Amino acid sequence: MSDSAREVLLDIQGLEVHFETRRGIARAVNDVDLQLYKGERFGLVGESGSGKTTMILALLHMIKTPGLIAGGRAIFDDGTDLLSLRGDEVRKNRLRRVAMVPQGAMNSLNPVMRIGDQISLTIREHGEEGTKQELAARVTQLLDRVELKPEVAMLYPHELSGGMKQRACIAQAISLGPQLILADEPTSALDVVVQRQIMQTLRELQLQLEATVLLVGHDMGLMAQFAERVGIMYGGKLVEVGSVTEVFRNPQHPYTQLLISSIPSFERRGIFKGIPGVGLSLLDPPSGCLFHPRCPQAMERCSRDEPGLTSLGTEGHVSCLLHEKEETHGTSA
Ligand SMILES: Nc1ncnc2c1ncn2[C@@H]1O[C@H](COP(=O)(O)OP(=O)(O)OP(=O)(O)O)[C@@H](O)[C@H]1O
Ligand SMILES: [Mg+2]
Repeated sequence: MSDSAREVLLDIQGLEVHFETRRGIARAVNDVDLQLYKGERFGLVGESGSGKTTMILALLHMIKTPGLIAGGRAIFDDGTDLLSLRGDEVRKNRLRRVAMVPQGAMNSLNPVMRIGDQISLTIREHGEEGTKQELAARVTQLLDRVELKPEVAMLYPHELSGGMKQRACIAQAISLGPQLILADEPTSALDVVVQRQIMQTLRELQLQLEATVLLVGHDMGLMAQFAERVGIMYGGKLVEVGSVTEVFRNPQHPYTQLLISSIPSFERRGIFKGIPGVGLSLLDPPSGCLFHPRCPQAMERCSRDEPGLTSLGTEGHVSCLLHEKEETHGTSA
């Protein structure tokens, strides 16, 4: 899978999302570059408030005021810039090209509508024709793909367990065969066993549909099992991208190193290091590298210079002055 010739499905360049508040502008997504390959499972991690949800909402034009997309492009493989879509094109793009399983998805189901009706409504709203029977057959097939029995179509959300609701949301998300599935902490509210089962289903679906999945989460263990590549966000910046094995074995950014070493393991039971220092204020960000006030390896120039991107092989990059040689300054991966 580490093939430099892998085809790119989505090329995100210089993505900027700002929240304009009374206390100033928060750069929630700060000049993010990311290429997602066709058919890959990519994991996006980072502490709360680092901009993970904001980044995926931007791709679907779902940022609400006071937020706005302040810059950048997101070029899909057919050449369309998702960020420049307007009006009806935005809606058409959703589900067909890009679908989302939102954070807290289980609560996004309509409580007064049967599951089957919700899924067929979604299909019809996207202009797909069909008789009642044809739609019902499609619903059954979609439920089957997420390992739910056909009878579930007749049930209301409150009659489903948390895991079943989450599966129903996934069925709805894949109803129009998207090429990219954005899954925002799809299992965070569920118990560990159900989490693993749902991740397994998502993985099988991704393989069947040959879709790309961008999975957002905090749980590094779950990420390590699911993803082929991971990206680490800090304060709206994507500070490191790499293959899951490389990032876990040999993290390059000091923040990633701290994240990895804070994962409890059998060998280090009881020692939970955590990450020193307080979280960053986006309204009053430090100069230079955003991580420098918490970075154990900070150098004098880290409070002054902003790091660019330094390539790490063919699959990733890091944004840290420790890795920047004079000639690679500002180079993009
Ligand atoms: N409505 C808003 N008004 C002002 N700032 C906002 C608003 N929504 C989000 N932000 C800013 O965007 C930043 C990123 O938020 P986001 O929800 O994308 O983080 P996240 O990485 O998804 O966090 P979590 O892991 O908790 O879901 C926040 O730190 C906050 O500063
Ligand atoms: Mg979030």
